[in-house]
Amino acid sequence: MTFSADHPLHTVLLPDGARLAVEIHGAGPPLLLLHGFPLDRSMWVGQLPLARSYQLILPDQRGFGASSCPAGSPGPASIEQLADDAAALLDVLGVQEPVTVCGLSMGGYVAQHLAVRHPRLVGSLILVDTKLEADTPEARAGRGELAAKVGRLGQEVVARAMIPNLLAAAPAEPALQAQHRTACVQELSRMIHACPVATITAALAALGARPDMSQAMRGVACPVLLVVGALDTITPPACLERAAGIFPHAHLRIVPGCGHMTPLEAPEIFNAEVEDFLRGVAADRAAAGGLEDDHLAGGPVVAGQPGHPAGRADHSDPGANPAAGDC
Ligand code: MLT
Repeated sequence: MTFSADHPLHTVLLPDGARLAVEIHGAGPPLLLLHGFPLDRSMWVGQLPLARSYQLILPDQRGFGASSCPAGSPGPASIEQLADDAAALLDVLGVQEPVTVCGLSMGGYVAQHLAVRHPRLVGSLILVDTKLEADTPEARAGRGELAAKVGRLGQEVVARAMIPNLLAAAPAEPALQAQHRTACVQELSRMIHACPVATITAALAALGARPDMSQAMRGVACPVLLVVGALDTITPPACLERAAGIFPHAHLRIVPGCGHMTPLEAPEIFNAEVEDFLRGVAADRAAAGGLEDDHLAGGPVVAGQPGHPAGRADHSDPGANPAAGDC
């Protein structure tokens, strides 16, 4: 099996028996995209045009989307585990070079842990609508309450509670934007309803238990792009402004009119920011003499095949995002 745009969906078996569904598009420097909670790889649909210049690697993290956990495991155990999964995935895919890791919200937490636990794998970081801080005790308790409700009542509780907080408030004008927002609501609802209840409850516990990464991020020397929607109420711009003061090499972009789902809400603006940042990173590396031939030649960096190819191929509830605004 080769990784081509014609057969973009693959299943990768991880050492502990988890199976990750992963789409691979395009050729060029690898760009790993890690979705938020409780979503899946399809939230990156607006980023597919980036496959013209980059090799996009889009996994469903364990338990989410088309990925599964090993028998007996209810869902993701920790954010650290999801970071180790991403590292194992890159290994199985045979990725040769440090990659750009881009994560939204929960995906951003995973990206931070990946940078700390597997620094050799991460060439640059793009953290989107996320934060470095741990949950407050109140936030953690709110996640526990939500998990109990989901266990009793199902995914609809999460959809109703989260969706109004994920997107910026409906724009009065123009109609096209309102139409796009409606499409985003439908997509988010589809992803949340497709997420197994066991994954949601396990992930809520993992999110609530994640540590504060502020100190660890001071040691991340790679270039970092921080992107946040100006109207994000879950991880507001203040969180990313604070993060910008922590990383040694960070650029901050605040995107007007967007909420917590900037890549979905404003894909063209988001993609332009990513391309601009990555062009700058490549130029700086070239200027520093660290020309990375594989990347700049535009050839595919992912090679070979997975080690275990399976070949199959408004009721806003503040408890839903109890961490909202804390940073
Ligand atoms: C997400 O979008 O991934 C979640 O809102 C993250 C969180 O609840 O902390």
